[in-house]
Amino acid sequence: MRKAKVLIDRDFTIGYTDPRLFGAFIEHLGRCVYGGIYEPSHRTADERGFRKDVLALVKELGPTLVRYPGGNFVSGYNWEDGVGPLETRPARLDLAWFSTEPNSFGTNEFIDWCRAADVAPMMAVNLGTRSGDAARNLVEYCNHPGGTAWSELRRKHGWQTPHGIKLWCLGNEMDGPWQIEQKSAAAYGAAAREAAKMMRRVDHSIELAVCGSSLRNMPSFGQWEETVLEHTFDYVDYISIHTYLENYSQDTASFLASTDLMDSFIDEVVVLADAVAAKRRSKKRLMLSFDEWNVWYRTRSEVAPADRWPVAPPILEEIYTMEDALAFGGACISLLNHADRVRVACLAQLVNVIAPIMTRTGGGAWRQTIFFPFAHMSHFGRGRILRAQVESEAYYASYNNPDGRPAVPDVPYLKIAAVAEQGGGLSLFLLNRDLKQEMEVSVEARSFGPLTVHKRFELRHDDLMAANTENTPDKVKPTPLQSVAFDRGRLRARLKPASWNVIYLAAD
Ligand code: AHR
Repeated sequence: MRKAKVLIDRDFTIGYTDPRLFGAFIEHLGRCVYGGIYEPSHRTADERGFRKDVLALVKELGPTLVRYPGGNFVSGYNWEDGVGPLETRPARLDLAWFSTEPNSFGTNEFIDWCRAADVAPMMAVNLGTRSGDAARNLVEYCNHPGGTAWSELRRKHGWQTPHGIKLWCLGNEMDGPWQIEQKSAAAYGAAAREAAKMMRRVDHSIELAVCGSSLRNMPSFGQWEETVLEHTFDYVDYISIHTYLENYSQDTASFLASTDLMDSFIDEVVVLADAVAAKRRSKKRLMLSFDEWNVWYRTRSEVAPADRWPVAPPILEEIYTMEDALAFGGACISLLNHADRVRVACLAQLVNVIAPIMTRTGGGAWRQTIFFPFAHMSHFGRGRILRAQVESEAYYASYNNPDGRPAVPDVPYLKIAAVAEQGGGLSLFLLNRDLKQEMEVSVEARSFGPLTVHKRFELRHDDLMAANTENTPDKVKPTPLQSVAFDRGRLRARLKPASWNVIYLAAD
């Protein structure tokens, strides 16, 4: 039996979770939009073509914000193609995913969908094939009340009141060779700065995220941030950061340890952003927009079949296992523990494409394994993140993988986040990374009033490769955590090997 000791104090705070930390992402990619959230011929579709079975699962999942329309797609997208009467919208080749984009779903449909799903929109502009001009026109189309050509066009299209989109991404992964119109840091920095200036002049209330490196392993990581921020520091609010966890080497222990690299990556980007601030003697602190994160490796190189240009091909439909849910849970803990600087985060993506929710076009919808840690984080992660002092035995992660990462000798078996909610309650998120042994955890919760164990969940499966499908939708699902008790300021819980656990203690 492993043992771990944790000390938290209600007054020792890292930061408050911004509600936008619990975001997700919808890209025109594969069956995320068509056959995912939008399928007019589906038996559950509403009058706008939105699948109501998917909407119900989205509400259960609990995202607060959704980024749109890409991703790589946005770097070749003409937003004007996706507005106005359906019969006049052009079909276009999508050079990011080698698909045909019918444009039957666009900006206005997205806003309607966000309202139906009760989430806030986060809009990305194309800084690949287009520039600040198209971006400022889009802000005017979306957010200006009326009386100008673009705002009147929106009204003519049927949306009288402005969309009021607050959060905007200045392009996507512009450092990546895979990106349409990849740019050097200096070229992108200058383009993003000019776009930002114009967009903010149209609507001074918007918030802007500039692209950081698309991966921690990009050779230009660090240099990219420095140069881009030299150009844009005064004009933006967030720098973006993306991470996809992978287990190519099928080494579960290292895979679960790799979630800690998210913590390092966040710390490094914070340092880079603050170094730019220091050079300017600026008190301004850029926040991080972790606007793509997930587990993704099995379908990493998929695009639509060459020369066929299908509409909504079933690509990037990663089937998530119990093992993935554990790594995913570790990533949730990393995000929570950096709530002071990570204010926006988007699980990539929401439906069908590397997603917690799967559908069959014309058929059912179900929850993948990663659905559960996200839902737990969104429902129990609101509040003040506490600094946890953890004493846990550690293990050696060899990272025997093609990236040649250095081994890490001291990965704590226990990964934990603690959230004090406003009403006096306490949520604990606990990942037991020991694959063989149970763990007895003792948490001393100082400065709290009387607490009662109110909710407790455990997500585990004897088979780490277990996954949910349309026919077996409940194979992996949370069950009540059996062994947990709170007495005189101390919580004791026994965690199963390789398990994700959530305990919510309500104030008496
Ligand atoms: O989420 C899938 C893709 O991953 C996005 O389009 C891109 O931004 C990232 O590389």
